[in-house]
Amino acid sequence: MVWTDFGHAEVIPYSGVTFTKEKSVKPPKSSYSGPGGLFFFGTERYNIQAIHFDPGGEFAVNAFEFHNPTKLIFGKGKLDTLKREVPKYGKNVLLVYGGGSIKRSGLYDDVHALLKEIGAEVTELSGVEPNPRLATVHKGVDLCREHNIDLILAVGGGSVIDCAKAIAVGAKYDGDMWDFVERKAAPQDALPLGTVLTIAATGSEMNGGSVITNEKTQEKMGWGSPHAYPAFSILDPVNTFTLPKDQTVYGMVDMMSHVLEHYFHKETNTPVQDGFCETILRTVIDTAPRLINDLQNYDARATIMYCGTMALNGILNMGYAGDWATHNIEHAVSAVYDIPHGGGLAILFPNWMKYNLKSDPGRFKQLAVNVFHIDPAGKTDEEIGLEGIQALRDFWSSIGAPSRLADYGIDDSQIEVMAEKTVRFGPFGKFRTLNKEDVVEIYKLSL
Ligand code: NZQ
Ligand code: ZN
Repeated sequence: MVWTDFGHAEVIPYSGVTFTKEKSVKPPKSSYSGPGGLFFFGTERYNIQAIHFDPGGEFAVNAFEFHNPTKLIFGKGKLDTLKREVPKYGKNVLLVYGGGSIKRSGLYDDVHALLKEIGAEVTELSGVEPNPRLATVHKGVDLCREHNIDLILAVGGGSVIDCAKAIAVGAKYDGDMWDFVERKAAPQDALPLGTVLTIAATGSEMNGGSVITNEKTQEKMGWGSPHAYPAFSILDPVNTFTLPKDQTVYGMVDMMSHVLEHYFHKETNTPVQDGFCETILRTVIDTAPRLINDLQNYDARATIMYCGTMALNGILNMGYAGDWATHNIEHAVSAVYDIPHGGGLAILFPNWMKYNLKSDPGRFKQLAVNVFHIDPAGKTDEEIGLEGIQALRDFWSSIGAPSRLADYGIDDSQIEVMAEKTVRFGPFGKFRTLNKEDVVEIYKLSL
């Protein structure tokens, strides 16, 4: 969890959409919209978990407190630690998993054997969809109540973990959990959650964010809460050995996109943060070709798993807020077409970059030179930046990621519908604020 302290104001933002202020602003008293709602400072909009302020106070610059409560347990054979961790929370465990990959890999049997050894009572929720659905969350909430669940154990990827987070807060709430997604209320409590990660991608294993799809309204939206962090997450790279090539690639695109979302910001004094970001990007670029040619390479799997977790656990963006527009634009696509999140990002991110290059060519130049080793000699910042964007496009294509919406059979027929979804909470994007017309242009570039 990142807490940002604004002088007299204490703001608890959702993970993944953290923020800071560039200059001091007096909080306009009238703009407060309640806990869990949207909060406006001047023209800027934040999704905020909670805020307490002294209305006369000045906001300070970029102060922050960092606290991530998830215990990370990393390495070969670490599944055994379930025997140590689970009993801390009680006997009744809700085991949440997806469409069957853990049965095929044998992980399901291993988890059951360990839970049996410690005498846990196991209830199951299976069939969590990629792009997890609200109806499945509701099922899980009902199971928690029926079986008096003490701990939710999510075994799977980001979808399974996100669904488990929604169940964890939903089980402690009298209303519909969707209220949290719509910012009508904020979670006040949650059942404890443990995870066993099987795909390196979202970072959900060590953050308080979650993305849920309301299948009835075709809305896919992120939400977050300090209560949604897993209590512990077990990351054994061996559990990702069975992940097929396409999902492995989507995962790597997703984690790189998280780093890029952080990287595009308007702060000026972030040399350490920029360096962290650039290192992760270079590491994924160096490791990816080795991994896709040798899917059971332990070292490559471990490196990628570590990158995925670090990319979205709050470590990279201490003291500043990244852009996060492309994620919003992608979520609208996967809401309507149910495509893999990483596939959507591979298509959209380079086009978001092209569309925004002119607004700060220096930032794009830094990425091109420090990550893609573009030779800057005799070129303008814009030319260098453009070469960097092309290098990113070429890299993603080289590992088999899609590059056009047409690769998923998507045409221009739903562009208006998708663009409308992205501005549900108003204009967005911290590096450059986008409105609906901008989004339409980015979709058109991506067809
Ligand atoms: O369902 P099963 O059978 O388990 O199969 C899954 C699924 O089909 C399969 N898989 C996972 N591990 C495997 C495996 N197959 C073989 N071997 C393994 N070891 O992979 C498929 C995709 O899984 P999923 O969990 O959907 O992937 P991912 O981790 O990329 O999660 C995507 C979801 O997370 C959201 C996305 O929007 C999307 O809904 N995000 C969550 C974030 C967060 N909580 O912080 C941030 C991200 O930006 C993202 O938006
Ligand atoms: Zn993502």
